[in-house]
Amino acid sequence: MAITHDGATRTSNAKLLKWVDEIAALTQPDHVVWCDGSEAEYQRLCDEMVASGTFVKLNPAKRPNSYLACSHPSDVARVEDRTFICSLKKEDAGPTNNWAPPDEMRAQLKELMNGCMKGRTLYVIPFSMGPIGSPIAQIGIELTDSPYVVANMRIMTRMGSKVLEALGDGFFVPCVHSVGAPLAPGQKDVPWPCEPDIGRKAIVHFPETREIWSYGSGYGGNALLGKKCLALRIASSMARDEGWLAEHMLILGLENPQGEKTYVAAAFPSACGKTNLAMIVPPKGFGNWKALTVGDDIAWIKPTADGTLRAINPEAGFFGVAPGTSYDSNPMAMESCKANSIFTNVVLTDDGDVWWEGMGVAAPAHGIDWQGNDWTPDCGRVGAHANSRFTAPAAQCPTIDPAWEDPAGVPISAFIFGGRLSKTFPLVYQAFDWNHGVFMAATMGSEATAAAIGVTGIRRDPFAMLPFCGYNMADYWGHWVKMGQKSGLKLPKIFRTNWFRKGPDGKFVWPGYGQNMRVLKWIVERVNGKVGAVESSFGLMPRYEDLDLEGLDFSKAQFETITSISRAEALSEIEEIKTFFEKFGTQLPPELEAQRQAFGQRAEKAPEVWTVVEAA
Ligand code: GTP
Ligand code: SPV
Ligand code: MN
Repeated sequence: MAITHDGATRTSNAKLLKWVDEIAALTQPDHVVWCDGSEAEYQRLCDEMVASGTFVKLNPAKRPNSYLACSHPSDVARVEDRTFICSLKKEDAGPTNNWAPPDEMRAQLKELMNGCMKGRTLYVIPFSMGPIGSPIAQIGIELTDSPYVVANMRIMTRMGSKVLEALGDGFFVPCVHSVGAPLAPGQKDVPWPCEPDIGRKAIVHFPETREIWSYGSGYGGNALLGKKCLALRIASSMARDEGWLAEHMLILGLENPQGEKTYVAAAFPSACGKTNLAMIVPPKGFGNWKALTVGDDIAWIKPTADGTLRAINPEAGFFGVAPGTSYDSNPMAMESCKANSIFTNVVLTDDGDVWWEGMGVAAPAHGIDWQGNDWTPDCGRVGAHANSRFTAPAAQCPTIDPAWEDPAGVPISAFIFGGRLSKTFPLVYQAFDWNHGVFMAATMGSEATAAAIGVTGIRRDPFAMLPFCGYNMADYWGHWVKMGQKSGLKLPKIFRTNWFRKGPDGKFVWPGYGQNMRVLKWIVERVNGKVGAVESSFGLMPRYEDLDLEGLDFSKAQFETITSISRAEALSEIEEIKTFFEKFGTQLPPELEAQRQAFGQRAEKAPEVWTVVEAA
């Protein structure tokens, strides 16, 4: 029996109407609701979620128009083990992705999704990644049985009727999402329905047909399908086919005292400070410099007719990590989530506000933790989950760039790649040329956490895209190499940074956060040819006097601690890269192995301990 809905009054897109009917027939929801994206609709859904226990409405005097949700303990982060790239051929997914034969996966999904929305409402969410109508934007339609997803998508994307108008009869990326918890007649719902068995969760991408299917989780990148699934995995595949870039990058505008603006895009693995850098506040003494935010997580970058690479932030909100976010570490993020925000898995205070570890305000004497238990500061448990998040409208960020919604995007002059590395890697260095930069990005990584100790200690996370590249990683590197060979492109300069090098005392030597502005200034001035650099085996590096350290108590000796290069450490890095590259077999672009060997030759010739001070 067909489920009735008013889709035909909303769109004439025959493909869309047919697909909604097909998915409704498969998943068997009680109702189908087309989302219009209005404020009234948002309020109605929030009220319903408050009534059902999914949302707690926060005290409007403290946190206007904001809500708290707490998830099931089995559903707190992306599930990389259950994320699949189901390309027709296994080698097109490559050695870094999970793959399953598409036919088998389709059969499995059919089985999982059969009747999976019983007792629930299927919401149709038309959304645009990027400003509606931008030549760089893409439209997706998410079908979900989670009102929490609808509310978050309204903050994270442009969503609703205006997207259907822009879509017309055109192309959209179909995204099916279910929490995987059908309700029997009369069965009472729980606040956070999901499939608790991780083995039955599945986040699936079919790159050739540009389809996304997600089952069993309601959290973050598993469920807000515009974000990692569309804007990175499917988009990276589109970008390869069409000659552009879809990247796990923040976008930042830097304006010097003369009013000249330079935009940079920077890739850091998850939890390495993209949101911090995207919202950097220049330190005292840099009063005439401005840093303006375009995006904090994803960049879509297209070459234009005049050869510039122009970038948009496909998102409309921030889905930022809460713990550690404070008025000290990231005041602009704190301002962004002051109101009209959704919080997930943080502490509820007795006065109806939220709290998390590292918020920079005293812990409440009593609260309710993310698992719903009474919580006191001395109870021995954290109150907020380590991956708890705030969902906040980007427009509320006080430093949002005036051009952040420009459909043409902003021109990118530099790419920055950074990891979390306690030794070996200098504070900042510049690539000698494009291919060297691609090599630097392809081999970046972060130190293994306690949960994942590798043989080498470094978890390679090429371009910060390891969990997000929708095709063979080696082919992705080849795509970057090819971009550099296109004639007439104004190629951005490429840099690597490392805020995390430690001294003999085991502490970070570089103060980081706002002080990173000093490194950004050097990068901007390198782009504009205004400041010097010296050659090391790693790349081009600032001398002590090339960095503007005015007003910062940072000695030449400290500078040396985070910029010196040990020949032995460099040579062992080069060996580790060899092992890493071998995973990719003959797919590895020869340009990258050539870069590795050139690095080896430079390192062999270097002194046992190279320092910038001596080189200068
Ligand atoms: P996703 O949203 O997961 O993609 O992550 P993200 O890249 O936005 O990272 P997140 O905001 O989770 O990273 C914050 C972490 O980086 C915190 O542990 C911060 O303490 C740390 N951090 C950020 N900037 C700096 C810095 O300049 N120096 C040091 N030492 N730590 C920093
Ligand atoms: C990341 O893990 O890089 C995130 C969070 O940005 S999520 O959207 O959940 O993937
Ligand atoms: Mn991210």
